[in-house]
Amino acid sequence: MLAYRHAFHAGNHADVLKHVVLALVLRHMNAKNKGWRYVDSHAGAGGYSLHSAYANKRAEHADGIGRLWGRADLPPAVADYVELVRGFNPGGTLDQYPGSPAIAHALRRPQDELHLHELHPTDHKILASWLADERGVQVSMDDGFAAIARELPPPTRRGVLLIDPPYELRADYAKVLAGLRDALARFADGVVIVWLPQLQLLEAARLPQRLKAAAAPAKKGWLLARLSVARGDARGFGLLGSSVFVANPPHTLAPLLRELLPWLAAELSQCERPQWALETGGG
Ligand SMILES: C[S@@+](CC[C@H](N)C(=O)[O-])C[C@H]1O[C@@H](n2cnc3c(N)ncnc32)[C@H](O)[C@@H]1O
Repeated sequence: MLAYRHAFHAGNHADVLKHVVLALVLRHMNAKNKGWRYVDSHAGAGGYSLHSAYANKRAEHADGIGRLWGRADLPPAVADYVELVRGFNPGGTLDQYPGSPAIAHALRRPQDELHLHELHPTDHKILASWLADERGVQVSMDDGFAAIARELPPPTRRGVLLIDPPYELRADYAKVLAGLRDALARFADGVVIVWLPQLQLLEAARLPQRLKAAAAPAKKGWLLARLSVARGDARGFGLLGSSVFVANPPHTLAPLLRELLPWLAAELSQCERPQWALETGGG
């Protein structure tokens, strides 16, 4: 059942989009002193060697973080994200890629909490061995979808939930929707970030519309950012790109992404016609 291993994909174009957005959201949360809770329903291992057999099977990172690493001409938000990745590579060469818990860990302050859920025993063990003993951090080996109800709202009523499942099981699409609905029913002004794959699959094609409808209770509306940069296989299957849906986005996020997405589409493109899109609504 748990066949998915993020180590195959760590640092690819989809991780770049997701982690740039996550860093922008958490930087914005840090503008206020009051502590926040970060809930990662599908946390992964927290960090990935880019020299492992997994990472080098298709070397997806080469066309993701690999294209940005070592450049001096990055837009500020991308430069900030690359700097966070640099913090994970003290030797100065790109050896490791930080997962979403590591991005959040780099940006947390003493008053902030990380609640991380990961079901795969190996990835949970790696994550727990790194972070479980740290104050303010909880690492649980459980179903992240089921955990959403327990986690929200946080006591400070400032929180960010990342829902980033593998989507290998078709049931994940319905669970993501239910997770967003559940989160907003409990915490209508919480920030919820959902990562979505762009695939030739009905469930994937329908998910954006369904998320927009499910985000109706979000007090500050929603945002959908899409980056289509990959070619897929000879039949047009495979990951063509990805989107990030954000309920209750910081007001600064849409203007920043309007500038960043065309730049990222051009720089991360593996196809003839890279595309990007940004939609906002609700609120
Ligand atoms: C896309 S990866 C997460 C990547 C991570 N969020 C990041 O950005 O670095 C999805 C993870 O979810 C885990 N997983 C699958 N089903 C799960 C579930 N029901 N609850 C918690 N984790 C699950 C997988 O083992 C995998 O590590």
